[in-house]
Amino acid sequence: MEKKKYLNVALPKGRLGEKVYSYFEREGMEAEGIHEESRKLIFENAEGTLRFFWVKPSDVAIYVERGAADIGVAGKDILLEYSPDVYELFDLELGKCRMAVAAKSDFTDDRSKTLRVATKFTHIAGQYYASLGRRIDIIKLNGSIELAPLLGLSDVIVDIVETGSTLKANGLVEFNKICDISARLIANKASMKFKGEQIMRVCRAFENKE
Ligand code: PRP
Repeated sequence: MEKKKYLNVALPKGRLGEKVYSYFEREGMEAEGIHEESRKLIFENAEGTLRFFWVKPSDVAIYVERGAADIGVAGKDILLEYSPDVYELFDLELGKCRMAVAAKSDFTDDRSKTLRVATKFTHIAGQYYASLGRRIDIIKLNGSIELAPLLGLSDVIVDIVETGSTLKANGLVEFNKICDISARLIANKASMKFKGEQIMRVCRAFENKE
């Protein structure tokens, strides 16, 4: 029996992944049962050419880098932070937000002191402050970063800002934008060689996504 050559697609769980999946659906690349309420994680299309799986957004790049997924959708924040060895095919212009420095409104930077920076994105923050020649102490947190300046754990935070409502609700102010972030379609390097045609078909489907 001929072995099926699936294109494995890692989608980020959540709103962004649902939106991206809707493009596949619109192009007739849907997978049965994907909308049903279940704990199932892998779904195939009827022709047996595509296999979707839902993963934690921050894990997509790992699946793609290691070839467990041929393509996937990852935020530019993750790509900048971890520099996975993947091809970035194009900007999906979804999940738009920014990486920014925020602090309490009365914050003033005393350059004679080491700046305490709380963040999930230690690499991005480190590079940003290195480019400014600013000495910092990085405090790595895994979530609810906004708490850090409120409790005196840090002077500033480096975090994702989308609507700004989390900052506002906690009395924090955005001081500097580090970079813009959006979702990217990424591909495994070997897959581009061996499944290039299938991958390009997906790219074409996404090109006129509006
Ligand atoms: C992200 C980010 C901010 C918030 C920004 O948190 O870390 O806290 O979203 O969005 P806003 O500007 O629209 O308010 P997420 O919900 O991913 O949770 P986290 O606390 O685990 O990082």
